[in-house]
Amino acid sequence: MSGLRMHIAQRVRETTSPPVDLMNAHAERLRRQGVPIISLGQAIPGFPAAPGIVEAARTALEEADTHRYSPDAGMPALREAIASVLARDRNVSIDPHSDLIITTGGNQAFLLALLTLLEPGDRVLLPSPYFLNHEMAVRIAGGIPVEVPLTEESGYQLRLRDLEPFLKQPARALVVVSPNNPTGAVFDCDELCRVGVAMAERDITLLADDTYQDYVYAGARHLSLASVPTLRGQVLLTCSYSKTYSITGWRLGFLAGPPDFIREAMKVQDSMVICAPVIAQKAVLGALREPPDELKRRLSLLDQRRRFLATRLSQIPRLQWCPTEGAFFAFVRVEGCADSQGLALDVLHSAHVLTIPGRAFGKHGEGCLRLSYGSVDLPDLEEACRRLERYFT
Ligand SMILES: Cc1ncc(COP(=O)(O)O)c(C=O)c1O
Repeated sequence: MSGLRMHIAQRVRETTSPPVDLMNAHAERLRRQGVPIISLGQAIPGFPAAPGIVEAARTALEEADTHRYSPDAGMPALREAIASVLARDRNVSIDPHSDLIITTGGNQAFLLALLTLLEPGDRVLLPSPYFLNHEMAVRIAGGIPVEVPLTEESGYQLRLRDLEPFLKQPARALVVVSPNNPTGAVFDCDELCRVGVAMAERDITLLADDTYQDYVYAGARHLSLASVPTLRGQVLLTCSYSKTYSITGWRLGFLAGPPDFIREAMKVQDSMVICAPVIAQKAVLGALREPPDELKRRLSLLDQRRRFLATRLSQIPRLQWCPTEGAFFAFVRVEGCADSQGLALDVLHSAHVLTIPGRAFGKHGEGCLRLSYGSVDLPDLEEACRRLERYFT
């Protein structure tokens, strides 16, 4: 359409365009020319959807209520199932009827939380490197993202002493992602509690994103901030089923928080989506009722890839990765790299390996590449490493 240029809100103009999409578009163009790209790009576990999901969705198609809205907060049966899994596996105690909204994925849950929480111009502390959609969502919700650098030497751990310099001015919220995207770090439980208490004392809301809670290796332990009794009323928990059940296309997650907050958030939910897709809700209900054996099997395959990558990357000149114990990412420093965007494009075009530039995860991610080992099997991962070795040698 031509004509006068339409006004675009400043907060949207100031938000970066989705960087992963951009890299995928480049890779797709090459694939169409017949170039065999190996993707270490997108944050997806490349397993087929869990069998319970597919079966439950198939059955749901025949049920009349699947084709209608559910309550805004989601199907009561699913909310009850989520609450009991949270209590059983995470020590998180919530009332499924007042503390929970089922959302169309973790990203909607996060934006829903921000739109309910933020006043225009509120500062939101983002440990950096950060999950890029969080930074985008803060801007879109009218907040100001404040990058708090995490250090590579600490294994990208979130430490109170790194946060302290940023507490001199008021902040509305701190975002906590553990296990972390993009670094794979699992935050130390004691330090995380100390951080939580310090934020609560300052009335800074904790936005805990537990999307990768099921992907933890090598004996590391994930602590959900929502399980800490002294932080009750201070934590908004967002979560996604995209990664747990390999269903990024189904779009299902949730937001949990104090009942008065959830009551207000319901206005935002209703105006955004009314409710999450009912067929996806029924599918996830099917998966939650399954024993966790399949998840355990996947976890062990991912751990195998993680260990392989640790060995192999240590043999490649210019690449440094101190292995982390969660999610399925290696956040790799590249010696001498000052332009990770240019580097990722060159690696894609010359070595035919898709990676994500560290700069996409904030200024403290510059000089690094994120490699996802979620969706490549071991032979492809071996080939990707051979190509990276040839490129960097
Ligand atoms: C930390 C984190 N939170 C949320 C999401 C988004 O999840 P969903 O697909 O449920 O929107 C992702 C996806 O990569 C993520 O890495």
